[in-house]
Order: sequence, then C-alpha cells, then structure tokens
Amino acid sequence: MITEQIGFAHLSDLPCWQLRFGDACAVISSYGAQVLSYQPKPEQEVLWLSPLSSWHQQQAIRGGIPICWPWFGPADANILPDATTLPNHGLVRNRLWQLHHKAELESATQLTLKVTLDTLPHVASPVTLYLQLTLSNTLTIELRCDAPITQQAALHSYFAIAPLIASTVGSETIQQIQIQGLSQSYVDKVSGQPTQQANDHAHIDSETDRVYRQPAAEMKLIGDKHPLTLNQAGQDHAVLWNPWQQKSQAMPDMPDDGYQHFICLETARLHWQPMPLLLKQQIRL
Ligand code: BG6
Repeated sequence: MITEQIGFAHLSDLPCWQLRFGDACAVISSYGAQVLSYQPKPEQEVLWLSPLSSWHQQQAIRGGIPICWPWFGPADANILPDATTLPNHGLVRNRLWQLHHKAELESATQLTLKVTLDTLPHVASPVTLYLQLTLSNTLTIELRCDAPITQQAALHSYFAIAPLIASTVGSETIQQIQIQGLSQSYVDKVSGQPTQQANDHAHIDSETDRVYRQPAAEMKLIGDKHPLTLNQAGQDHAVLWNPWQQKSQAMPDMPDDGYQHFICLETARLHWQPMPLLLKQQIRL
C-alpha cells in the first residue's frame, strides 16, 4: 500500500509518502527524497532521525537516508566554479521531489521520485535524478541519473544503534558495534591522512570520518542482537562517519548525545568521471 501523509515524527508539516508491504513500513519525505523510517516489523526502527532536525530555511534533514548529489562533501573548486558558495553534499537534499511512478506489486511496494535541476554549476542542460524505493522483506534504494555528466553521489544512511544491540542503556553501546566489509585502505578526514588497516573491520570510539576505497558489495553492522546487512552496487567508496561528542554538541540539529545513537555507513560513488549514475543500497535487518 502507498499513501501520502503530511508529517512524520516531530516534522509535523513535512509532505511524505508511506509504503507498506506485509508487516514492513517505510516513510520517505518529498523534501530531499529522504527515507526517514524503515521498519521491517512494527516498532523495529532501522534508521535514526534527529529529534532536532528541521526542513525549514532550506535545511537538510538530519537523519534517515539523505541523498548527496551531484557532489559529495564540499564542492571541488577544480570542477565546480564558485565552489566556496556551494553547499556541502550537493543540491538535492533541500529540493521538493516529484512523484514519477508508484506500483503495488505482488512481490513489493515501489515508489519512484524525481527531481529536475534546470541549471547545474557545471552542466549546460537540465538533468533529472530518480530515486526508486522498493519495499519487500528488504528495503532497496536506487539512485539513477542517465545523463553522462560529471557527478558524485552518496546514500548517506544514518543507521540506528538501538535494534543492533540487546541493551541501549549507557554510553558504551555504540562501541560494541563492529562494522564489516570496509576495505583496508581509507582516507581519514579527521587526521587528513591516507591510512592502511590490517582487516576490513572497524569500531567507533571517537570522532570518525573515513572514506574507504573499494569496499565489499556486502557490509554489515554487527552487535549482539540483529545484524544489519547492507548490499550495495555502483559504489567505488564507502564512508563511515560519526561526529562524536564535541561535534554533536556543536551541531544545532543534533542532541548533545546524538552521536551515541547512530552510525553513518554510506554507499558512495566519488570518481569524477563523466558517466551516467546507478547507485544501489539494499538494507536487511
Ligand atoms: C559525512 C562527511 O558524509 O557527512 C562528514 O564525511 C560530514 O565530513 C557529514 O561532516 C555530515 O555532513 P552534513 O552536511 O550533513 O552536516
């Protein structure tokens, strides 16, 4: 079943779509085509949404699965004129997307939203980006742009810690999560250094902002309860991010202890090659 709804959680005036398939439910905002909620079963929330997030004054919503496109992170001055005036993570997190297609199939519920940008800083003609959401016993997100343009993209997923561990009491819980399927080489954006590690695992116990080269097609978040599996395609990098205490406190749209409740594990295509885009993430708890 697919229904339109106004409001989700504290974002009471936000235009959204709700998808249901069997026991599973997902909510996606028309603003940013941002998945805000995925519950494979009732009360089993996979994504984290900041209780202080807002979508007013052009702000990007903090949490869920933001879409970074057509660039990731700060704009690159070598490719984008006036890079310093351009927002972090591209131009579509704060746009209202349009409905392109919806289908209630026997095997899944599917919704596609699209956004057309008439002018991009580095492209002369209008370009359309599509996001397809497929809900079955998993949630699959497909980001597609058929234009052969210079473009980066990331599915910037905020995964909630709560369903991964048996007890969420105390501040040590995020440190119990093992992240698997990363690669052995990454750029550490905190230290600014290229880094090698002995295996493809990681734990988070301090500010973490890493860009891993060529991650596996399957990554996992493992606690002592339900493991979360993320299958991906079209990526050349994975990003692992957690702001930790000081940066959480400095972010107006994040509670002071926000960093204890999520891990961002992002499927990313970062190579600047002029070619079409197809980036895919499938999430299973
Ligand atoms: C991550 C980046 O993907 O997103 C971090 O690697 C960045 O460097 C984080 O701080 C959050 O970005 P924003 O624009 O949503 O605050």
